[in-house]
Amino acid sequence: MSQPTIESILHEQRLFAPAASFAQTAQIGSPEAYQQLCDRAQANPQQFWADLAEQELEWFAPWQQVLDWQPPFAKWFVGGKLNISYNCLDRHLTTWRRNKAALIWEGEPGDSRTLTYAQLHREVCQFANALKHLGVQKGDRVAIYMPMIPEAAIAMLACARIGAAHTVIFGGFSAEAVKDRLLDAQVKVVVTADGGWRKDAIVPLKAQVDQALEQGGVPSVENVLVVQRTGQQVAMQLGGRDHWWHELQRLVSADCPAEPMDSEDMLFILYTSGTTGKPKGVVHTTGGYNLYSHITTKWIFDLQDTDIYWCTADVGWITGHSYIVYGPLSNGATTLMYEGAPRPSNPGCTWEIIEKYGVNIFYTAPTAIRAFLKMGEDLPKARDLSSLRLLGTVGEPINPEAWMWYHRVIGGERCPIVDTWWQTETGGIMITPLPGVTTTKPGSATRPFPGIFADVVDLDGNSVPDNDGGYLVVKHPWPGMMRTVYGDPERFRKSYWEHIPPQDGQYVYFAGDGARRDEDGYFWIMGRVDDVINVAGHRLGTMEIESALVSHPAVAEAAVVGRPDEVKGEEVVAFVTLEGSHASSEDLRAELKQHVVTEIGTIARPGEIRFADSLPKTRSGKIMRRLLRTLASGETISGDTSTLEDRSVLDKLRSEG
Ligand code: PRX
Repeated sequence: MSQPTIESILHEQRLFAPAASFAQTAQIGSPEAYQQLCDRAQANPQQFWADLAEQELEWFAPWQQVLDWQPPFAKWFVGGKLNISYNCLDRHLTTWRRNKAALIWEGEPGDSRTLTYAQLHREVCQFANALKHLGVQKGDRVAIYMPMIPEAAIAMLACARIGAAHTVIFGGFSAEAVKDRLLDAQVKVVVTADGGWRKDAIVPLKAQVDQALEQGGVPSVENVLVVQRTGQQVAMQLGGRDHWWHELQRLVSADCPAEPMDSEDMLFILYTSGTTGKPKGVVHTTGGYNLYSHITTKWIFDLQDTDIYWCTADVGWITGHSYIVYGPLSNGATTLMYEGAPRPSNPGCTWEIIEKYGVNIFYTAPTAIRAFLKMGEDLPKARDLSSLRLLGTVGEPINPEAWMWYHRVIGGERCPIVDTWWQTETGGIMITPLPGVTTTKPGSATRPFPGIFADVVDLDGNSVPDNDGGYLVVKHPWPGMMRTVYGDPERFRKSYWEHIPPQDGQYVYFAGDGARRDEDGYFWIMGRVDDVINVAGHRLGTMEIESALVSHPAVAEAAVVGRPDEVKGEEVVAFVTLEGSHASSEDLRAELKQHVVTEIGTIARPGEIRFADSLPKTRSGKIMRRLLRTLASGETISGDTSTLEDRSVLDKLRSEG
């Protein structure tokens, strides 16, 4: 008999039930309470969400209709008025939470700041008035391209307060990528900083913005608001386009009532990668997003008023939006924000921060956990991690080995782990354990959140049998769902609602992930089924990287695939054919890698570039990525290659690999 694999041991034998002591005080603490929620959601989903919206949020005016569903376009709480910045700040000021820490911030060089709810409210009001001073009005778009400093959250809340839609652009994106997003969203004001600390170096954010705006490259941008973070020299177009935040601050008051927003007013646009070369502007609106990010934070992270909660994401991603800023603050929680990341000068900074602040809830990515695992147990063991009571993961499948390490070394075998599946498009967590009631299986995100109806189907939309692989879909609209692709409703329809035909007239949301469901109804996410790859928890479109490569004069054609990587989950491998006059060389290889960094950012840097005379294509001219993926991972090619136009291409690629 063959030895059992760690997979079989973990999947089939080890179950982790919540400890009675955890369940006792949990938000959802008994199987009966959980079942009741699921039953209520099943019986009447609209009533379920409406009851929560009424209990959990403050509204300036009530809605007339819970859901207006014109597939694939949903409107939630139609006619209702509210403001998410009011729900995150003002409503706590009349309670004891007024002087509770809202935001604890730690800078990479070791500086720190704590803002109470009252202080955060004041800062947000001032920032909102500064935006107004620059002429920003309800409905305008404001880009936020910032390091992980309190002003990033303050700027988001300030936009929400006056009804401007923010689009946060991850600080690791290049000037070119920033420019694309500014153009697409027709941004009026850019909020940035002189620079930010990242792994002992300064990221020159303002300089990148200058480059993006060079020679009137983005005509809609009128002003750039600059926060002084690093104090380095930056070029300011004073008296005109550019303003220092600390100078504007002196001119504006801290009195800025929250604008009553329609529930369906746009709250933000967040760009994410899809299957074409152009990122999609995912649109989220006010009421549904506020409710969904709020209630998922409360139940999944089991927030208690004494908790210090730390999510290590960057505010440039959806996780930072929903689970650093909006979800925790709407609940009146204490949210911790860290500017830096583990780095050679301080590889154990994560554990140092947990010890320093007594963090209770810790939410991070499997990539980070695998990197910690590689660094060994000494670093976490050198710190007191006993304050931790709940752990979470997001962004990619977590392999059972990493899960077990997280459970044992970080969680001290006492903390439940919530493996949360969701997407930029879903606004909040969709498939997840509830820590007080769900028995977990390492590697499974377990079951849908109450009110979410997920399924695994074939391409005709039929549910597949237990344990068969299929496509992950969601069957009923939910409040946190994206509303459209900014400026391109057709793309929204095509990307998410047309791959799977409606079932009995019911439209289904196609997530783009493969999954299987086991005999207990637990979901196991198997990764993307489209041309999107997931590198260190960052979502990248292969077409985006290919477009970047072919924009280099030496490149004729490029095909990009993902290759499994022990730490990052996947790594970018690019197959490149060159224009006639160019020869392959190590220098060119380095130059092309750098070119991708310039066009998109460091997150997209190819791990490997392979030069080829030609790429394997079907007779109709389509690049056969399946073959390239196999080649890239060093496996032997099996299966059908009969559609290949020129079989000698494969032999050549093999011998060059
Ligand atoms: O493939 C899934 C993977 O990340 C994708 C969504 O990426 P993004 O929109 O950037 O959002 C990431 C943070 C929410 C999904 O389509 N993914 C996310 N969470 C998990 C996951 N894969 C497996 N398990 C997860 N828990």
